[in-house]
Amino acid sequence: MLPGPLSAAETEQARGLYLKNCQSCHGPDGGGNVASSTAVVPAPTSFRRVRPTLKYAEQVLAGGLPGTAMTPWKDKLSETDRRLLARYVRTLYAEDRSWP
Ligand code: HEC
Repeated sequence: MLPGPLSAAETEQARGLYLKNCQSCHGPDGGGNVASSTAVVPAPTSFRRVRPTLKYAEQVLAGGLPGTAMTPWKDKLSETDRRLLARYVRTLYAEDRSWP
């Protein structure tokens, strides 16, 4: 069963993990395109435009994406933390906004 929305405490915890480990590439608000990431091909995913399934996000976080700058986090983050981050990035999606 899919977990429900993140609680306030979970969001806060996930955001801390995200800002520490992920924002350098995926951007503080998930929009990708941060200065340090412009040299990376393919560019880090914008989670404002792309909403990965929970399962896919968990897989990528565990094993990385070979051939990209997305490395495995299996040995760096606990399964609990990875699962929380997989849920968190899905909350950054902003379908209703238009982007340049
Ligand atoms: C060094 C840069 C870098 C860091 C740090 C990084 N990522 Fe990524 N990430 C990427 C790139 C590049 C891709 C692949 C984009 C593509 O394939 O088009 C990616 C893909 C992903 C995907 C799959 C989405 C897709 O479009 O296939 C997820 C989920 C993800 N990252 C989550 C995270 C999370 C959560 C963190 C922090 C723990 C993180 N990433 C840290 C660069 C990074």
